[in-house]
Amino acid sequence: MIQQIKPVNVLNGTITPPPDKSISHRSAMFAAISDGLSVIRNYSAAADPQSTLACLKQLGVRIESDENGVTIRGVGRDGLQIPGEPLDCGNSGTTMRLLGGIVAGAGITCELIGDESLSSRTMKRIIDPLNALGCIIKGKNGDFAPLLVSGHSGLRGMRFPLPIASAQLKSAVLLAGLFSEEPVEVIEQVLSRDHTERLLDLKSEPYGTGKIIRSSRGDILPAQNYTVPGDFSAAAFWLVSGTIHNNASLIIKHTGMNPSRIAALRILEEMGASIITENPRMEGKEPVADVRIEPAELKAIDLNPAFIPNCIDELPVLMVAMCFAEGTSNITGAGELRHKETDRLSAMAEILTLSGAAVELKNDGITIHGKKDFIPKAAVFPSYHDHRMAMAAAVLATKSQEVSAIMDAECTAISYPEFWNHLEQISR
Ligand code: S3P
Repeated sequence: MIQQIKPVNVLNGTITPPPDKSISHRSAMFAAISDGLSVIRNYSAAADPQSTLACLKQLGVRIESDENGVTIRGVGRDGLQIPGEPLDCGNSGTTMRLLGGIVAGAGITCELIGDESLSSRTMKRIIDPLNALGCIIKGKNGDFAPLLVSGHSGLRGMRFPLPIASAQLKSAVLLAGLFSEEPVEVIEQVLSRDHTERLLDLKSEPYGTGKIIRSSRGDILPAQNYTVPGDFSAAAFWLVSGTIHNNASLIIKHTGMNPSRIAALRILEEMGASIITENPRMEGKEPVADVRIEPAELKAIDLNPAFIPNCIDELPVLMVAMCFAEGTSNITGAGELRHKETDRLSAMAEILTLSGAAVELKNDGITIHGKKDFIPKAAVFPSYHDHRMAMAAAVLATKSQEVSAIMDAECTAISYPEFWNHLEQISR
């Protein structure tokens, strides 16, 4: 699908972002391996979290969806069944890596497959530590999916200092640890999103500049009801849109405000954005709020690399904001962007350059020479079949004076199926 983007003069309205992708995946997986009935309200209808549900069904978990939410009959840690067919994780790295940790820890003989993009993303980061723990897992193509799990040789517990600030890796190891009599300890120096430890109530304590998190078979996994907050990573597209348009007033309802996720909000504020958080509340174990955005003049920023793990999915749209921020902005320490659904550093450099922005691509980051009155050139923007590239390009294109197009725009369904409708609803 090719999506046309018309120049936008006024951006006005209220949006409820889609349910959080990370929390949707986790709530379904955790409900599946707990004992008893869990109900998940506001589960994401997007493609990635739906891949997780389909895989769990294949593992013998009974799942029903109706207007009350998704009801999952947990099978406990020892109740997963060997699937008849490969588990298709689609485009979803979180499904493959977290579920990989679960099936490897449980010793369920199975194969995990993914689409072309997922099959080209390294799985070595989970294969090595899971094998060190006593799981038997390998990539059919070396470091890459399909992943083959063939029982296990008995889990031995371990202490694992995370070599990369990755919540997917952290979670894969901790989830496998839930099947180990001996504790599994993950040391995290740079803190990444903490939904896994939060939702499972895993024990953790400060360690050096970071923390140590433990899991083991001794951790009790009671069935629980979950309400999934709105996805901050989706809301981020509106935070930037509402800031860079001169005639904008947006309210984003029910947005997840987990501190390990909202660095982009703080970064935009530091750049001069006007973002007001209203009605803060807890929903289950996750903080939620409504967010009001008004236009603002932005100034350039040297992004502190320590913030990268807490805004990793928002970096593409932050790069768009930087084009409209007076001065030179720098992002460094963001090499992980090259290992996402596409190489997001190269892809964004290409998209921004097409629009006429002055950017310099670096190995682990990008430099952007922004102008407060930047007018992007209209263009046909590739999306690289990557949902976040499509949405970042769209936000950029709304500031152009002519019609642009986004290629393969249906990929937004991976995380935000309503994105194009929402954009239309608030644009004039
Ligand atoms: C996610 C963690 C991040 C993020 C991804 C979702 C998660 O990946 O980019 O979209 O749910 O744990 P990494 O942990 O690999 O950085």
